[in-house]
Amino acid sequence: MSIENDLSLIQDFDKNYCLQVFNLLPVAFVKGKGCYLYDTEGRKYLDMIGGIAVNCLGYGHPKLTSAVCTQAKNIIHACNYYYIPQKAELAYRLCRVSFADKVFFCNSGAEANEAAIKLARSYFYYKDINKYEIITADMSFHGRTMGTVAATGQAKFQRPFEPNLPGFVHVPYNDIDAMIEAVNPKTAAIMLELVQGESGVHPADLEYIQQIKKLCVEKGIILIFDEVQTGVGRTGKMFCYQNYGVQPDIMTLAKGLGGGVPIGAMLTTDEIATGMKPGDHGSTFGGNPLACAAGNAVMEAIEEENIIDNVKEVSDEIFDKLGKLRAKYNCIRSVRGKGLLIGIEFDDTITAQGMREQLFSMGILVSAIGKSTIRLAPPLIITKAQAGQFIKALDKILKNVQGPKSVLGKIKDAIPSKKQIKESASAVGNAKIDKLDTLGLTNEKPSDKAITDNDD
Ligand SMILES: Cc1ncc(COP(=O)(O)O)c(C=O)c1O
Repeated sequence: MSIENDLSLIQDFDKNYCLQVFNLLPVAFVKGKGCYLYDTEGRKYLDMIGGIAVNCLGYGHPKLTSAVCTQAKNIIHACNYYYIPQKAELAYRLCRVSFADKVFFCNSGAEANEAAIKLARSYFYYKDINKYEIITADMSFHGRTMGTVAATGQAKFQRPFEPNLPGFVHVPYNDIDAMIEAVNPKTAAIMLELVQGESGVHPADLEYIQQIKKLCVEKGIILIFDEVQTGVGRTGKMFCYQNYGVQPDIMTLAKGLGGGVPIGAMLTTDEIATGMKPGDHGSTFGGNPLACAAGNAVMEAIEEENIIDNVKEVSDEIFDKLGKLRAKYNCIRSVRGKGLLIGIEFDDTITAQGMREQLFSMGILVSAIGKSTIRLAPPLIITKAQAGQFIKALDKILKNVQGPKSVLGKIKDAIPSKKQIKESASAVGNAKIDKLDTLGLTNEKPSDKAITDNDD
């Protein structure tokens, strides 16, 4: 049985059996090629968000797919009792092109940041120094675990889960005076994104990052860059810190590193790595052969296929064209970002959600952040012509609008409201049970007997 090509059934299964923590668009993708995705109806979409900065090589990249298929045929998982060749190779590759001497592998960005937070604390623990506080920025985003939620500088991600893990201090971003004031004898680390992605694509100022580095050196503070979103070529350098000429002591990666296969990594120096001893930290799946084979393929492709040059060229083109659109339409308030991580902010006559849905209806995928910003993070292999397709669509949307005030109305009219989407989703709901029956599935849960099988 397969529900793969039946959108209404997919929606029903999701609604009934998945925890409802995401706001989903009414589409499911079943195939991808290059920078395009295809939905259950065979409709083609230009992917300008790349699985939120994950699918750096696009879809079906020969090197990546072949590495994953070959590795799956050999060994998917071995475990961290044994040496893993793919893990050792990927660690070497990452160290060779970065400041780092040592790598710890895990499965996501949040886990990489957890490892960074733990290492910053354990480093001082083993030195018998009482430093544990970590300073992060307002409006930052570091993940969804309890530790990374506490690190994240946005109350909306913390509130339902309070009390927060103690030991985190938040200060305004790009404000060196606030940072200097927050530093105290208990400060173990400063943890920052170089481009705040989730909260609207806000790059750090060069001078700010240089002053932070100076402060860290002077006060013996560990500098952590969260490059979960900005790493692996995204910003026109292999790692974003290279745009700033400032090296961290710890850097975290995830998203693009596996090109879609889940993997996270924490990179550090030999000195800071002394803060973890065998048994202090670990991960069952972290560093597994499959994920690391994907990571090796991604790193090899980025190095051998001039992908970073492509990021720079296409990025210049997009910024140039967006600059022209901004001059033409005063409803574009700002265009921000680095490389192929770009935020376009509109004035309050246009909602980000409305723009996202309008682009979606034209077969273009972007993400909406906050009320007024859309984010672009396309595959790093995107061509200028494909980027031009997005610019053309945006131009068309803005051109169709006679004046800033009417933009919102037009965009709102063009898209189904949340209520309409909900209603159509629940309308298909009742059809589900019949379809389950014809597929030979039932809605019943397995009996207790089946659940209590002993599997140790
Ligand atoms: C900067 C940054 N850090 C951490 C995370 C968390 O990564 P993950 O969702 O893989 O846990 C994200 C995810 O968007 C991120 O953008």
